Amino acid sequence: MSAVIVTGGAGGIGRVICTRLHRDGNKVVVADRDRAAARAAAELIGCDFEELDIGEEVSVVTGVNAVAERHGGLKAVINNAGIHMQSLVVETSAVDWDRIFRVNSRGTFLMCREAARIMAQQRSGQIVNIITKLGFGNPFSSVYVSSKNAVWGLTQCLAVEMASSGVRVNAIAPGHVGPGTGMEAAFRAKADKLGKSWEDFEQQVISTIPLGRWCTPEDVAGGVAWLLGPDTTFVTGEMINITGGFQAYAAAPRDDDVRTAAEKGPNS
Ligand SMILES: NC(=O)c1ccc[n+]([C@@H]2O[C@H](COP(=O)([O-])OP(=O)(O)OC[C@H]3O[C@@H](n4cnc5c(N)ncnc54)[C@H](O)[C@@H]3O)[C@@H](O)[C@H]2O)c1
Repeated sequence: MSAVIVTGGAGGIGRVICTRLHRDGNKVVVADRDRAAARAAAELIGCDFEELDIGEEVSVVTGVNAVAERHGGLKAVINNAGIHMQSLVVETSAVDWDRIFRVNSRGTFLMCREAARIMAQQRSGQIVNIITKLGFGNPFSSVYVSSKNAVWGLTQCLAVEMASSGVRVNAIAPGHVGPGTGMEAAFRAKADKLGKSWEDFEQQVISTIPLGRWCTPEDVAGGVAWLLGPDTTFVTGEMINITGGFQAYAAAPRDDDVRTAAEKGPNS
């Protein structure tokens, strides 16, 4: 059975994706730039690992090809590794812009390219890019959101380019997966910048999510497992939103009363 590489597989969401895919019977490879964390996660899960920095072209080319050789091919690559920063556009340096894009956009492009080269030869395979649904003119998130929007463009182009090779390419756009992930620090920094306590900030976030709770890493892993499952053979070039309704609600008038009225029901 060929391998499933999960980049950033030692992190908050990545480790849960690895655990879920391993449980589903996949031959998972935890790929992370943090070797010790990758090894520890792999030992815990009972799977393979690869030290791989998506910001470095040589590391990506070497790492992806080594995994494919070791496991007799690639079933899927889950491009989950990503970094974040909180800053207003007027405060953002070009160095910071390049740093985030180097990992989130360029790094994901490199992974997609290497995976696509191997999968084209196999005439099978899936690429899943983890992007975000935290856009919508979200203050302090311009660099991150821009870098993820670039990946959404890449996802659609690659899906079309690879379709005739039997390779599918999709994106998963999670909503707010704060607690227990690397993003929690970013959310806490944002609460500080807004002068809010964590509790008030959390309440504000959750008030914009119709299903009334944070997204969990398990919710994201469930989406990845579905894409890798047997029912998605006609799904490519798509963005799967896992936002608890945030995606739909964000388009509605920004008025808490709207949600409160909806909760009371039509006859109130
Ligand atoms: N947490 C959220 O709220 C949220 C929401 C939407 C999307 N996402 C996306 O989900 C993905 C995972 O987020 P998370 O919150 O679990 O992050 P995390 O910080 O918990 O984990 C990220 C992992 O990626 C690894 N990594 C970072 N740079 C790397 C590189 N250059 N090469 C290889 N590995 C690298 C880190 O070592 C870490 O193990 C990211 O792409 C993030 O943008 C997160």
